[in-house]
Amino acid sequence: MDISKPERSATARQRMFEILEHGRRRDFASRIIDGFLVVLVVTNVAVVIAQSVPEVAAEYGTSLYVFDRLCVIVFAIEYAARIWVAPEHPMLRGNSPLMARLRFAGTPLMIIDALALVPWLLELLFPQSTLVPLTRLVRLLKLARYSPAIATIGRVIVSERRALMACVIILSGVLLTAAALMLAIEGHKQPGRLGDMSKTMWWAAAMLAKIGGGETEPVTALGRIVSAITVMLGIFCFALPVAIIGRGFYEEIRRRDFVITFAMVARVPLFSKLDASAIADLVSILRARTVTPGTTLMRQGDRGDAMYFIASGSVEVSSPTLSAHLSEGDFFGEMALLSKEPRIATVTAETSADLLVLEVDDFLRLLDRLPAFKEHIEQVAIERQHGKLKGS
Ligand code: CMP
Repeated sequence: MDISKPERSATARQRMFEILEHGRRRDFASRIIDGFLVVLVVTNVAVVIAQSVPEVAAEYGTSLYVFDRLCVIVFAIEYAARIWVAPEHPMLRGNSPLMARLRFAGTPLMIIDALALVPWLLELLFPQSTLVPLTRLVRLLKLARYSPAIATIGRVIVSERRALMACVIILSGVLLTAAALMLAIEGHKQPGRLGDMSKTMWWAAAMLAKIGGGETEPVTALGRIVSAITVMLGIFCFALPVAIIGRGFYEEIRRRDFVITFAMVARVPLFSKLDASAIADLVSILRARTVTPGTTLMRQGDRGDAMYFIASGSVEVSSPTLSAHLSEGDFFGEMALLSKEPRIATVTAETSADLLVLEVDDFLRLLDRLPAFKEHIEQVAIERQHGKLKGS
């Protein structure tokens, strides 16, 4: 393995995958395409709103229509391109290209992308409908792809689904019980307002949501007691899911960006001999990153922008001539920073992993400041270059 002559295996499809799906911070093309699509989605939604105003529609109807058709063409090309690059997705490797594409088409974000194209089809089928144009507002959901916070809420809802389902069951139970009691107590006294289950269920829902029962006031003492209990249970029923989602959100954020501690840095063998002030410096320099199994951290041929220390978990280093496994305490990604050449291997997370990221500028500063750090890293890089050493 020669560090100065890395193998460049990037194909057009790989590159397109990186631009569309990888979303790396430093990839200029990726940022331009993302920015363009975000502007297009927002403008498209604004156009739908504008078209619903009769005066605007009368004056600019044709231009707005043409703009919308252009958007549909761009969204269709985007959808086709995402489907085309699906086999490059790390989680879908090992599937045949067709299977990878089918499975990718079933992911939530791709379903949203497909839904964004449906209004165009509906408009062809039902040209007279006034409701169909409004279905174009679904395109706003495309922005979910660009908002990590929305993805986080989605993950929280999925991970807390059992607790949330329990809340739905409790809420339904309270609603039905309150409705049945009110029907039994006041149904015959106020047949117009509380005379059947559909009416008392509406009353119970209004009481639980604390919007009040409107003009439907209980007229019996027992009815008033049931109303009071229903309102109080409403507070409990609505507070419960809020608390569950809040706690799940906190857990998710904690999992993603764990706090780097002094002990965590000191445990990395390379730093273990540093004095306390140097370790404290590192705590402020290093960035935390948690990754899920299958995440590609760097690809052979990539430009080096950071090196990584493994705080927990394991990764696989692979190239056509190499397959190595690194785990807690090991580091990787140092060779491209030292040689200023592209990455010589692809590194993928094998398990969930907590990583400490050292950006290239900080890395170069550390090399100057800590001669022992420099010597050790260079030694490991030379040994790896000759395919000798795996761990660090
Ligand atoms: P870099 O070339 O920046 O990116 C790929 C990384 O894989 C490389 O740095 C090393 O950190 C790591 N790597 C390369 N060869 C080996 C090896 N033989 N054993 C363990 N890790 C390696």
